[in-house]
Amino acid sequence: MIDIHCHVLPGVDDGPEDEATSIAMCRLAAENGTTDVVATPHANANYEYSPERNEEMRRQLQAAVGPSPRIHLGCDFHLSYDNIEAALADPAQFTINGGRYLLVEFSDLIISQGTSEVFARMQEAGVTPIITHPERNPLLRDHRSRLAAWVHRGCLIQITADSLLGRFGRHAQSAAIALVDANLAHIVASDGHDLKERPPVLAGSFEFVVDRWGEDLAQDLFVDRPRAVVDGKPLQPPAPKRRHSKKTWWAFWR
Ligand SMILES: [Fe+2]
Repeated sequence: MIDIHCHVLPGVDDGPEDEATSIAMCRLAAENGTTDVVATPHANANYEYSPERNEEMRRQLQAAVGPSPRIHLGCDFHLSYDNIEAALADPAQFTINGGRYLLVEFSDLIISQGTSEVFARMQEAGVTPIITHPERNPLLRDHRSRLAAWVHRGCLIQITADSLLGRFGRHAQSAAIALVDANLAHIVASDGHDLKERPPVLAGSFEFVVDRWGEDLAQDLFVDRPRAVVDGKPLQPPAPKRRHSKKTWWAFWR
C-alpha cells in the first residue's frame, strides 16, 4: 500500500516531535504493509514551510529508516491567499514529488466563494488538487454537491483510513462510506501524526474495504491510484455514480 498523506517529519508541524518517533512511525507503517509514505507537513499559517528543509529531513529520515518504506515528499496545503499565489508561481514547491498532485486541506470554518476558480487556475498550471478528508469537515460533508462538481472538473478526493473504521466519529464514517459508494473517494490515506492516536496504519481500513466493496476497489484506493500520484502519472477514475432518475448525477447530493 502507498500512503500519500502522513505527518512523519520530526518537529516541523503537529506530527512527531523527534526523529526516533518518526523512525518508529515508518517502521510501523512498513510492518502493516505500507511500501511508500509521502511526508506531508502542513503548509499553513501555523508552521514555517520550507521545501528545502523538508527535503533534507526526508533524506535523513530515509537514511535512518533504511529502504522500506520509501519516503516521498509533499505537503498538506492550506488554501490561503499567499499559499495559492506561491503554488501557482512554482507548483513543485508544494506538489507530491514535485509532480502534478497537490493535497488540499480546507478550513473547518469557511469555504471561500472563489474556491472553484482557484482549482481551475491550479489545473491550468498543471496541478491536480486532491481534496483531503472531506468526510471529517462538516462544511464539505454537508455540501457534497460541491464536492461532486469539483470531481466532475478533475479534482480528486482522499479520505482518511480511520474515518472508515469510525475513529473520527459516526458522521465522518457514514460520510466516508457514502463517498466510496458514490465513486467520490479516490484514495485512502492515513493522515498519520503519531504512533498511538493517529498512527500511519492502513491495514485495518484496507480489510474493511475488501469486506464491504471487494478486492478490486481496495487495490484502486490503497495501491494503484496512490502509486500513480506518487509517480505523477495521470489518473482516470470512474465517474461518480448516477442516481436512477433523470436528474443529473450531482443532483443526488442536493
Ligand atoms: Fe494532514
